Amino acid sequence: MSQSTYSSIVLAKRPKGPILPGETFTTKSNPMISENDLKDGQILVEALYLSLDPAMRGWLNDIRSYLPPVQIGEIMRGAAISNVIASKSSLFPVGSHVIANIGWTELAIVDEKDPGLSLAQIPENGRVTDALGVLGLTGMTAYFGMLEVGQVKAGDFVVVSGAAGATGSVACQIAKLKGATVLGIAGSDDKVAWLKELGCDDALNYKAADFKTKFKESTKGLIDVFFDNVGGEILELALTRAKQHARFVMCGAISQYNSTQPQGPKNFGYVITMRIRLQGFIVFDYQKQYPTAAKDIAQWLAEGKLKRKETIIKGGLAAAQQGLVDLYDGINTGKLLVEVKEDNGEGVGSRL
Ligand SMILES: NC(=O)c1ccc[n+]([C@@H]2O[C@H](COP(=O)([O-])OP(=O)(O)OC[C@H]3O[C@@H](n4cnc5c(N)ncnc54)[C@H](OP(=O)(O)O)[C@@H]3O)[C@@H](O)[C@H]2O)c1
Repeated sequence: MSQSTYSSIVLAKRPKGPILPGETFTTKSNPMISENDLKDGQILVEALYLSLDPAMRGWLNDIRSYLPPVQIGEIMRGAAISNVIASKSSLFPVGSHVIANIGWTELAIVDEKDPGLSLAQIPENGRVTDALGVLGLTGMTAYFGMLEVGQVKAGDFVVVSGAAGATGSVACQIAKLKGATVLGIAGSDDKVAWLKELGCDDALNYKAADFKTKFKESTKGLIDVFFDNVGGEILELALTRAKQHARFVMCGAISQYNSTQPQGPKNFGYVITMRIRLQGFIVFDYQKQYPTAAKDIAQWLAEGKLKRKETIIKGGLAAAQQGLVDLYDGINTGKLLVEVKEDNGEGVGSRL
């Protein structure tokens, strides 16, 4: 059956608070594209899995940031793993699996020179979706955040917030691999149980009524490294438990992304009194070192030292809007993806 159109999801209205499915975005039907539309060096890809990322909410705000905002009428930005279905590039033949920032669209034409385009890196015996998760920017973020920014070392006491998410779960395990003692914080008892399976020495549910008391007990040795994915109250609490010269890895602040009045830590003074090194970072800063991280992560996977989980939302491109809203409600354990089209397992990536 030959289709005459394909769908994309575009930004319709900048949200003030949380994203409103059906209002923030709108679905656009586009005339079909085919091999005939390709110029030399271009490929036609069909999306298989879209990455859903907390940062997406920030890309909708018209403010100065590390990337320009998505414009009204523009396809929602995002990375996807795609299948090459037509090619005028010797680098990316038909049947290749590629990672590219095609956004929320079923089909796209990508130039082989696009800096965001690469062959998907799929670990031996791994899954195609690993290329977006543990071997994608998620894994890179955990790796560089924990090792370069956090400078974790054996004997450190490390606390990770958002610990059962894509980045946090890898960050916890990397800290363990380096000989640290790790406390993970997550939003449900099931997530807490999974964190213990991953090897965390302790894990706490921040939604439990006694969380603050338990947190104080669990951090009585004080924190060497705090890997923060959530900001807000948990950051405030961690500041009170920082050891002198603690390193605070400011990876994300998801608790604040939908807020119209973001909450700063009111006890920022601990940064001074405890001489905390509090450092933000963006994973792109480490782009040149991605191959080193990918090699280490692939090896840990092969040796069974690193585990990962993914939560895959079915329902095609149309499921992306609600999926993104649900990300902020913690629907996921591990990496959250939308299945636009099921992978038939025949695609070729770059096997590690
Ligand atoms: N700096 C960088 O370059 C970089 C790169 C990638 C990601 N990040 C950041 O890293 C963080 C994690 O990203 P990810 O892609 O790995 O997402 P993720 O952790 O897989 O998913 C987000 C998780 O955040 C938790 N959460 C939501 N609202 C929360 C709240 N109010 N308080 C505490 N936890 C809350 C939810 O889990 P619970 O059930 O536990 O609440 C949810 O599952 C985000 O802040 C993101 O912006 C930064």
